[in-house]
Amino acid sequence: MEDLDPPRPSRRALLQAGAAASLLWVGGARALAQPEASPAPANRSRPLPSRAITLRINASDQLLDLDPRTTLLDALRHQLGMTGSKKGCDHGQCGACTVLVNGRRINACLSLAVMHEGDQITTIEGLANGDLLHPMQAAFIARDAFQCGYCTPGQICSAIGLLQEVRAGWPSHVTEDVAVHSVSLSDREIGERMSGNLCRCAAYPNIVAAIRDAAEEA
Ligand code: FES
Ligand code: FES
Repeated sequence: MEDLDPPRPSRRALLQAGAAASLLWVGGARALAQPEASPAPANRSRPLPSRAITLRINASDQLLDLDPRTTLLDALRHQLGMTGSKKGCDHGQCGACTVLVNGRRINACLSLAVMHEGDQITTIEGLANGDLLHPMQAAFIARDAFQCGYCTPGQICSAIGLLQEVRAGWPSHVTEDVAVHSVSLSDREIGERMSGNLCRCAAYPNIVAAIRDAAEEA
């Protein structure tokens, strides 16, 4: 009688088929486990269109054509060649880049240049009047309030901003009576208010003395 059962696969054929199926499964699982590389953002490497702005720096208008992501510090140093303002950390931690904007001290490394159209920006280069030093500059020299000098432009700009804040009656964290409008500028007040300006040479005692002198003179 004729055998109607289908031919039975050999043991070797079964093993080969199993191995092939395993390889296919592993490949599929890998494909699932590894997400496809995300496509690069279209404009990540493309420069932004530059922007023309006018900055008023040390009472003089400066025309600039810059990438809108440029910080005020980089615009000063790299585009205008005004290297008095220093770059220490570029992260708002050392105060070396301090400049005055409308009389208030800011860290130029944390602020975009395009934000300052119409502002009055004062840098260390704009403090002296010809050969006549600003009283704060003179006090720093008289008190020998620096060693390497790298932090000094930021210290001086910051100290000038500090005196304006004290004059306006702004309290600090160490002001004993915040309801009093006239703040007495003790060494502790000066230290606290200058805490955003670091000096790696540790010229702090002389810096405090210089600011005290300038405050008394003012
Ligand atoms: S360079 Fe701006 S705070 Fe240090
Ligand atoms: S004088 Fe050198 S860092 Fe201050």
